Amino acid sequence: MARTNEFAISLLNLPLISNIPSLNKSLKSVRTVNEKPEPGFSEAVHSIKQTKREMSLPKAPLQNQPANPDYSRTAPLNNSGLIFNAVWIKLGMITLGIETSCDETAVGIIKDQNVLANIVSSQIAHTKFGGVVPEIAARNHIKVIMPLTKLALEIANIKLSDIDLVSATYGPGLVGSLLVGLSFAKSIAISLNKPFIGINHLEGHIYSLQLDGSKPAYPYLVLIVSGGHTEIVLVQKEFSYKTMGRTLDDACGEAFDKVAKLTGLPYPGGPYIEKEAAKGRLGKIKFPVPRPSKFNFSYSGLKTAVLYYVKNNPYYNRPDVVANFQESAIKHLIEVTERCLKQTKVKGLGIVGGVSANQRLREYFKNLAKKEKIKLYLTSLQFCTDNGVMIGLAGSKRFKKFGPSSLSVDARSSGFTL
Ligand code: KG4
Ligand code: ZN
Repeated sequence: MARTNEFAISLLNLPLISNIPSLNKSLKSVRTVNEKPEPGFSEAVHSIKQTKREMSLPKAPLQNQPANPDYSRTAPLNNSGLIFNAVWIKLGMITLGIETSCDETAVGIIKDQNVLANIVSSQIAHTKFGGVVPEIAARNHIKVIMPLTKLALEIANIKLSDIDLVSATYGPGLVGSLLVGLSFAKSIAISLNKPFIGINHLEGHIYSLQLDGSKPAYPYLVLIVSGGHTEIVLVQKEFSYKTMGRTLDDACGEAFDKVAKLTGLPYPGGPYIEKEAAKGRLGKIKFPVPRPSKFNFSYSGLKTAVLYYVKNNPYYNRPDVVANFQESAIKHLIEVTERCLKQTKVKGLGIVGGVSANQRLREYFKNLAKKEKIKLYLTSLQFCTDNGVMIGLAGSKRFKKFGPSSLSVDARSSGFTL
């Protein structure tokens, strides 16, 4: 056991860290200079966000805790591929969550529901391409995942061996990127002889709703609006999902990113469009609100309408264009969600994913919730975009119910949903 721990710790001490001096320097600056990375960071990393919520729990070392009545044994072990003498679920379980499905390398550490560390590193290398280049994304994950994990442990004030469960996204996403996080997480679990659990990225987003302590009552609807997905899902009970509708073409965030590119705004476009839209005049340009059948979504027509508008109006007013695009994009989400609420008659609605950080969208959904007399759950702003904390929380919830995953869980790009 001691040897395996040493191996795991050596994973975090590989020469890799010293090979990236600018990253090393920036990681230090994150800790010391108002938590802001230095400008001109490494090519691999765009920005690092980190949060640490103070715990009310004791700071004492967590390993070697004596067995006590708070600990309860799980059901018989499943075929995990790891040899466990026993799997213990304890109060104060520490979960490491790893998320690398796209261009964010994210490491989160939670103790039960308390966030001990949340590190998200976004890659700048894709900016010049206006979208994510899969091969570049995977290579950059490899560069930063170890130093970021080390930093997360430092922030959480724990040792690697204090981790009770390792949770990682297995899909959907870019396979090369997923493989980096997944293999890293499995290696840590094997070397520490701790359980591993693979998590669906969308389920991670759904659990981001609970990071502020909310406990939505079942059944409820969740609208997932991100760069890769636009889906409306009925959560019937814990771990029981029914997809009511999804995009037939582009995802909502993808449309924001493409319209940003068309109008000369940087990637990822969502936050830039939101800012620029605040200066725009609503109603100056009429873009269509998409209306596909049932509870589905579609953004390619709206995107094409913007494309033709900017081509035909070389002196277009950018704030007006993006404000009216944003308005149609959000109205589309509202219309579909309202219909779905009426049909399912549920009393709760959650909005998750990167686009749910948009303030205009949040206002629209607050009004809808008031009108429909339902309870609205909005993910805290810091957990809307991809992060490791949500993967950690979904992992710990799943583990408590089903035990660990098999180590043969593979990365999956798409072709399946919740
Ligand atoms: O959930 P996420 O981090 O990654 C995926 O799972 O895809 O979402 C990223 C997406 C990007 O398309 C980005 O442009 C969009 O979320 N986004 C926003 C905002 N912040 C991020 N879109 C609109 N308004 C925002 N404030
Ligand atoms: Zn996501």
